[in-house]
Amino acid sequence: MGTARALDSDVESFLAAPLRRMLVDGRWVEAASGRTFETVNPATGEALARVAEGDAEDIDRAVRAARRAFDDGEWPRMAPRDRERILARVVELIERHAAALAQLETLDNGKAIAESASVDIPAAADTFRYYAGWVNKMSGETLPSAPDFFTFTLREPVGVCGQIIPWNFPLLMAAWKLAPALACGNTVVLKPAEQTPLSALRLGELLLEAGVPRGVVNIVPGFGPTAGAALVRHPLVDKVAFTGSTEVGKEIHRASADTLKRISLELGGKSPNIVFADADIDSAVRGALMGVFFNQGEVCCAGTRLLVESSLHDRFAEALAAAARGMKQGPGLDPETQIGPLVSAEQLERVTGYLELGLREGATPLAGGGRNLAAGLERGYFVQPTVFTGVRNDMRIAREEIFGPVVAVMPFRDEEDAVLQGNDTTYGLAAGVWTRDVSRAHRIARALRAGTVWVNCYNVFDVSAPFGGYKESGYGRELGRQCLDLYTQTKSVWLRV
Ligand code: NAI
Ligand code: MG
Repeated sequence: MGTARALDSDVESFLAAPLRRMLVDGRWVEAASGRTFETVNPATGEALARVAEGDAEDIDRAVRAARRAFDDGEWPRMAPRDRERILARVVELIERHAAALAQLETLDNGKAIAESASVDIPAAADTFRYYAGWVNKMSGETLPSAPDFFTFTLREPVGVCGQIIPWNFPLLMAAWKLAPALACGNTVVLKPAEQTPLSALRLGELLLEAGVPRGVVNIVPGFGPTAGAALVRHPLVDKVAFTGSTEVGKEIHRASADTLKRISLELGGKSPNIVFADADIDSAVRGALMGVFFNQGEVCCAGTRLLVESSLHDRFAEALAAAARGMKQGPGLDPETQIGPLVSAEQLERVTGYLELGLREGATPLAGGGRNLAAGLERGYFVQPTVFTGVRNDMRIAREEIFGPVVAVMPFRDEEDAVLQGNDTTYGLAAGVWTRDVSRAHRIARALRAGTVWVNCYNVFDVSAPFGGYKESGYGRELGRQCLDLYTQTKSVWLRV
């Protein structure tokens, strides 16, 4: 498979350590319990590294460190220019180590190196750059309250933030969480996903090297029901930011009630991608393909319900299936790979379970339909890019998030039907529409209940554009100026003149 390429020496030495420790109060420490877990290379099923396994005790130590760093430390009180300078150094360090970070990400998550090198790592650097730029641009207001008062607002950090992230974009999700929180002067306990803790731990080293003071960022790898749940329940945590499944999002929402923490939730999706017969068909096929197979389909906003105008449906499904069959699947480290393995044996089982369910529900796989057991891939978690037709919007494969390379193609009659089917979901994270009719594009963008609508494009991101869900896809907006609202609170000050 031509994959025997040299690993960056940074990566070699990072993986050679007998144990990757957790970051608590500026020090790399073992778990209080002494427990560890293994992270696995999904291309081979082999162990990649051993990692300290945090639980409630480690979370407590980390939260207390973050609390001290917030209540008595310099970070929230630092001159904005100094905080900005440190965050700018983080950007430089990510960029300096970009090649190694991309390899580490691909080894741990499985994704194609072409994607980790061109998307994940540069976007993580961009996120820190963007929020570094906000540090000295956030301000309060003076208010026209009454002539004998001077009334103004202070924009203050929220405090200690617990941040829980998933495994599909490990470093980028860490950046989406950490960069705005730090820019606003908060302190953080980050819990990376148990499947992919490595790049976040490497980022922790870079944060210290950049000059982030001890205790400001603590990184505790561990499992959801232990470390994650302890972070959500901890009374000294002011805010929790979570990205992951809707199921766990609901649990977090409930668990936060006792301490009334602020919560922001970025959850699952079942996004409609709507193609009209008047669209530029070639670009719609490419957009639909990458809309669903990018990152093996392990994308919360993947365009998994592909709604195609009836007159175009069969032709479009065939073209998409042909393109899917032409995708090069292989180990992520192979530079030619377009679609890598799923992240874990658990996800392999979940996604192949949905493939079987699709067949039982009566759908037809025009492309793919099963695990990819081609020579050299047998031990990895590879699933063929799959295009289902004969799907109705009430089937489970059209309603539940599969989180793998699986798309359901469904016909629609007219604009009204497209919007109806598009919105017929409990989710509302994203949507796409392909048409040359400008007015229709605008009408549909307004009619769809989703936090992002892409017109004649899909899966496009920029750190300036807010991202988040309607309905059961969660609440709160990350990225953009809006994200600053998650990490600041407003204090009104009245002064009698
Ligand atoms: P998950 O929601 O269980 O895991 C995401 C993060 O939450 C991980 O860091 C995990 O350790 C943590 N977590 C789990 N249970 C927790 C709890 N009770 N309290 C606090 N933290 C907890 O997702 P999982 O099990 O990895 O994947 C299952 C499905 O979730 C996927 O098939 C996919 O449909 C969806 N998912 C959606 C993501 C998104 O970006 N919206 C990302 C990952 C998964
Ligand atoms: Mg889970």
